[in-house]
Amino acid sequence: MATATEIDRSQVQDLLPLNGTDYVEFYVGNAKQAAFFYEKMFGFEIVAYCGPETGVRDRASYLVQQGKIRLVFTAAMKGDSDIAEHVRKHGDGVKTLALWVDNAEAAFYNTLSRGATAVAVPQTLSDEYGSVVQASIATYGDTVHTFVERKNYRGVFLPNYKPYKSKTFAGSVGLQYIDHCVGNVEMGEMNRWVKFYEEVMGFKLLLTFDDKDISTDYSALMSKVVSNGNGYVKFPINEPADGKRKSQVEEYLDFYNGAGVQHIAVATHDIIHAVTELRARGVEFLEIPASYYDELLGRVGKIDEDLTPLKELNILVDRDEEGYLLQIFTKPVEDRPTLFFEIIQRKGATSFGKGNFKALFEAIEREQDKRGNL
Ligand code: FE2
Repeated sequence: MATATEIDRSQVQDLLPLNGTDYVEFYVGNAKQAAFFYEKMFGFEIVAYCGPETGVRDRASYLVQQGKIRLVFTAAMKGDSDIAEHVRKHGDGVKTLALWVDNAEAAFYNTLSRGATAVAVPQTLSDEYGSVVQASIATYGDTVHTFVERKNYRGVFLPNYKPYKSKTFAGSVGLQYIDHCVGNVEMGEMNRWVKFYEEVMGFKLLLTFDDKDISTDYSALMSKVVSNGNGYVKFPINEPADGKRKSQVEEYLDFYNGAGVQHIAVATHDIIHAVTELRARGVEFLEIPASYYDELLGRVGKIDEDLTPLKELNILVDRDEEGYLLQIFTKPVEDRPTLFFEIIQRKGATSFGKGNFKALFEAIEREQDKRGNL
């Protein structure tokens, strides 16, 4: 069965071959402090820097890394810049979901020919370590996809970045790679963006959740998950649905001033260790009522982990036909109730934790209520 699926995949022409996520770039008010936060709290290490000292006049950027995950924090050096404007409008948030390709020019012009909006034409950046080609197209809100071709580059990250020797690295917590990045879009816009990923980016629709799957007594949302040809890049897209009160997606859209990245899910091979460390370092997670664990094993069946640490750490579990997964969600990591992180460990399951939606969304609503936004 698995073999048949593989054969099918190799026979389908991939409209946009992607090697995976290259990096996620945030535009923030203060990149130096943001990088330090992710280093001290989340186990990333600051490994590269660009700014005035490296010949880049308009910005300062810090690259932090853990496993294969690369996050870039960029701040404006002057008020009259696109970066400053992005921060004014959205608060700190994700500007770029960068995709690693073998040919950035082909990725750019092919997606343009299928209807993409150009943001930056292909540009070759070079230094003594070689060259990188980058080109960008628009996606939802002010978010962009940058195609990164780095086969001719041996430097630390990108040209103009210099290695950064961190004196404050607190050690990895075992986060390995980006599992999926979720976008929130305005009511009625989800299908337009799913169509964009299907027709322009060559992604496939993987899963659909309607408001019956994702609703509580108060609010509802709808979600569709798209995935690229090899399955390395997955983008769930949410839109609010009608409910009695304001949904979490509406709260996000209000405070982010439009569509944008809602959460980044990062995978680990040992979620109990990772979450124990993250909690010790000060990361705050959504609180799940103890009653969730009373029914857990009845719902998901036998699992390898002891229930006690899962319950203590507030880790959620769900099962699908292929296996199970463990997941947990941080509180928003910005002052505005916008972006948060998910930590996920997959033990065979390829889904997204549908069985946890109700417990999760009720936990989010308790936080919304505290903020006066429910
Ligand atoms: Fe997720």
